[in-house]
Amino acid sequence: MLFAVGSWRGAPGVTTTALALAESWPGPQSAVVLECDPRGGSAACRFLIPGSRTVEALASAARHGGDARLLAEHTRTTSAGAAVVTAPEDGERLRPLIAVLAKPGGLLATVAADSEAVVFADCGRLDPRDAETCAVLARAESLILVIRPVVEHALGLKAALGRIRELHPDVGLVLVGSGYSPAELTWLLELPVWGTLPLLPTGAASRVVDRLRRDHTQAGFREAAVGIGDMLIGRRLVAGVAPHAARTATGVGASA
Ligand SMILES: Nc1ncnc2c1ncn2[C@@H]1O[C@H](COP(=O)(O)OP(=O)(O)OP(=O)(O)O)[C@@H](O)[C@H]1O
Ligand SMILES: [Mg+2]
Repeated sequence: MLFAVGSWRGAPGVTTTALALAESWPGPQSAVVLECDPRGGSAACRFLIPGSRTVEALASAARHGGDARLLAEHTRTTSAGAAVVTAPEDGERLRPLIAVLAKPGGLLATVAADSEAVVFADCGRLDPRDAETCAVLARAESLILVIRPVVEHALGLKAALGRIRELHPDVGLVLVGSGYSPAELTWLLELPVWGTLPLLPTGAASRVVDRLRRDHTQAGFREAAVGIGDMLIGRRLVAGVAPHAARTATGVGASA
């Protein structure tokens, strides 16, 4: 299973959300965050994740393909136990590595078709002109669009709905913080809301992974992240398969 996580504008909390979803994944699988923001990774620096494994080594090992086991061998672990494949802060170094992983028949196509694997690809701010982002999205079964439910983000998204629908056919919103209600946003944007993560007190978000371990009741944050995971699992059960499993497994729709 491969879920892309991204934003349309601003920095609403994509990386924080991807880490929280992986850390709180309610299924039996170990969930992994793969940093593939073409503007560069931030998790290693932000969360002071120890270790030296990076996406460079993964892409090198996965030149001719790869699977969930290879991915797991290249993860670093946050203090709360979330597995992350960290990326260099320099996005220009990262782009060719993303292209290797997302190519037809590549590692992302394999893990996308593997129900024992759960990967959240942190795509950062989405730009349809980024070939690497489009390649990752072509493998993903769903796009989790993270927004702050405030007027600037909502209107920006409304103006871009056509482009967003071209990026992926299965898009759902995760709201960070309060503002418009899920019902209001669904009415305004005609996109489903898959969950809401509360806004943590200032200063807490950068330590959110620690928080998840220390205080599972922190503003209901962990419960909210578990709820989103439950919803993603439930959607697959209802559909019988991943909404776009065939598409991702065959590479149909891939642009790179
Ligand atoms: N649930 C939250 N509660 C409080 N603050 C949050 C939350 N999620 C994210 N933040 C804060 O918002 C800022 C941006 O978070 P994050 O880096 O996760 O966003 P992003 O969308 O990945 O940004 P970028 O596009 O720069 O990578 C950080 O200061 C982070 O601590
Ligand atoms: Mg980010």
